[in-house]
Amino acid sequence: MNKLLELKDGSPRVALVTGGAGGIGSATAKALAMHGAKVMVTDVNEAALSSIVETIHGNGGLAMASCLDVGDPDSWQQVREQVLDTWGPLSVLVNNAGIDVVKSVADTTLAEWDRLFRVNSTGMFLGTQCFLDDLHAAGQTSGVRSSIVNMSSICGNVGVAFQSAYSATKGAVRMFTKAAAVEFGALDLQLRINSIHPGTVDTAFAAQCLTELGEAGFAPSPAEARAAIRAAHPIGDMAQGDEIADAIVFLASDLSRFMTGSEMLVDGGYTAQ
Ligand SMILES: NC(=O)c1ccc[n+]([C@@H]2O[C@H](COP(=O)([O-])OP(=O)(O)OC[C@H]3O[C@@H](n4cnc5c(N)ncnc54)[C@H](O)[C@@H]3O)[C@@H](O)[C@H]2O)c1
Repeated sequence: MNKLLELKDGSPRVALVTGGAGGIGSATAKALAMHGAKVMVTDVNEAALSSIVETIHGNGGLAMASCLDVGDPDSWQQVREQVLDTWGPLSVLVNNAGIDVVKSVADTTLAEWDRLFRVNSTGMFLGTQCFLDDLHAAGQTSGVRSSIVNMSSICGNVGVAFQSAYSATKGAVRMFTKAAAVEFGALDLQLRINSIHPGTVDTAFAAQCLTELGEAGFAPSPAEARAAIRAAHPIGDMAQGDEIADAIVFLASDLSRFMTGSEMLVDGGYTAQ
């Protein structure tokens, strides 16, 4: 039986993950490879990528790494050429790279607002546009629709104090995904596009965010902020990166073949309250 991310003829699907050096991105790259994909792992933090690729190779998977700044169109084109030359057209794109600023509306600077949009929202748009033809072509050739997974957040669904700029970027991810899904259907493109909305995930990103939330007065100390965040998820804890990665594998694979334009909450019940 084929693995989830192998094509009907047993060949590996070609996948790319942005922000692949981070907590969720590295777990996602490893999970995609474990399920049979060849994975291009990308990040601005190039130094951190080699150990992730080595781990994938050590587990018998296929991966390579490249530096990619998602906010830079030229950077996307360079990586596209590398993927095409080495493996052929992409069939799974995970737009995961993201940054946060924990500040009140009053204190958020225009530069911070712009920087967040550049990475979290514009990066997703540039990646989608750069790989659109390849994703469609791969879907047409293989008979398996390609898949884009865009990283949103519960902050794309509900308001969170001191995260207005971040929430705005994640709301943009959510609505871009829906509009693109409708458009791709109208154009009969052979690809699906969905957004994923994690609750708090125990990564460096979350640790920094919790520290800053503590400093902003959400909780008296980072430790108490952490306890409060865990309690705010009905499941009683934060997620680990692999719990989000597994959901991304589902959206990337044909198990989710009737899903497009969906917002998939993987939030331990946070938004069910
Ligand atoms: N950790 C959470 O609680 C949580 C919850 C919901 C959504 N998310 C989202 O998940 C994604 C990954 O978060 P994480 O927790 O793994 O964070 P992380 O900080 O561990 O990883 C983010 C990665 O993005 C990279 N990056 C930053 N700017 C970049 C750029 N311009 N181009 C390419 N890469 C860049 C960083 O180098 C880093 O490796 C983000 O989009 C984040 O908003 C995180």
